[in-house]
Amino acid sequence: MTQSLTICRPDDWHLHLRDGAMLEGVLPESARHFARAIIMPNLVPPVVTGRDAAAYRDRILAALPEGMAFEPLMTLYLTEDTDPEDVAAAHASGLVKAVKLYPAGATTNSASGVRDFDRVRGVLERMAEIGLPLCVHGEVTDPAIDIFDREAVFIDRVLDPIRRKTPGLRVVMEHITTKEGVAYAGAAGDDLGATITTHHLIINRNHILAGGIRPHYYCLPVAKREEHRLALRAAATSGAPRFFLGTDSAPHIDALKEHACGCAGCFTATNTMSILAHVFEEEGALDRLEAFTSLNGPAFYRLPPNEERITLTKGETVDYPKKIQTGAGPVTVFEPGFPLLWRVAA
Ligand code: NCD
Ligand code: ZN
Repeated sequence: MTQSLTICRPDDWHLHLRDGAMLEGVLPESARHFARAIIMPNLVPPVVTGRDAAAYRDRILAALPEGMAFEPLMTLYLTEDTDPEDVAAAHASGLVKAVKLYPAGATTNSASGVRDFDRVRGVLERMAEIGLPLCVHGEVTDPAIDIFDREAVFIDRVLDPIRRKTPGLRVVMEHITTKEGVAYAGAAGDDLGATITTHHLIINRNHILAGGIRPHYYCLPVAKREEHRLALRAAATSGAPRFFLGTDSAPHIDALKEHACGCAGCFTATNTMSILAHVFEEEGALDRLEAFTSLNGPAFYRLPPNEERITLTKGETVDYPKKIQTGAGPVTVFEPGFPLLWRVAA
């Protein structure tokens, strides 16, 4: 018997599309299944102003193959020089849906991020007034803090103080990777959301390090112990409105992943929906897949869910490409380590 499941077309609430030849190569991989995505602004140089965001949105739309529909939801990269009025204007025009906070040095292309949080107070207060969400990369950058503890320490030292000082600020904890992240988000009110990636539901830190180093499983925040992966799976499949999909699909060419100092990022755009259907079926939660991929995110961002629907069917093993060929070079697709049986019907 074929099993099938019809849900509202999903959205991706955390996506890296890059620019130029890489953008052209990876955009169809997301647009095939996803209607909209929150587009990360960590280009070189970053997308800082409303003007930058408008130009980047135009480049994304220009790279979209004919016949494909996709709506990029733009974000601004918060710097210590960000002008609160520029942010407010970019939001009022409908262009910008969130502002991204990278602690300086936390991850790929975050050098222009925030060092002194007091210097962004004015922007955060303006955002609280207008209801514009702050997407937070939640890791401290203190070299004295172990990389596996950086998320939990960030919650206590940075995130909670910012939220207390800025009542009304709507925050998304991006790509949570720990049981502490799950607990903090789970206990919060509806001014807090948390995205969970596809890959953090599949891998723990052993996948990166045991039996040889596997650079294609290296991303930031780095995958943690198994107990954390299990907490993330429970949260994602719970149906709780706080949690929604942000793939954090982050393409880097193979030459930069398979390198003495390899880049962080897993590329999951191609097979995310197949992997998620597998995970939700395993957890006996197929009826909650739609909440995670298609309903909770729009509700947090105060947007309607997509009217269009997709159908997933379970059958023969899905044949997806092991690599995507882009004009910038080949990009390896995330390998979940088990056959995928769920496909999105054409
Ligand atoms: C992202 C990237 O490559 O831009 N990398 C990653 O490992 N997730 C940056 C980020 O989201 O931290
Ligand atoms: Zn990211």
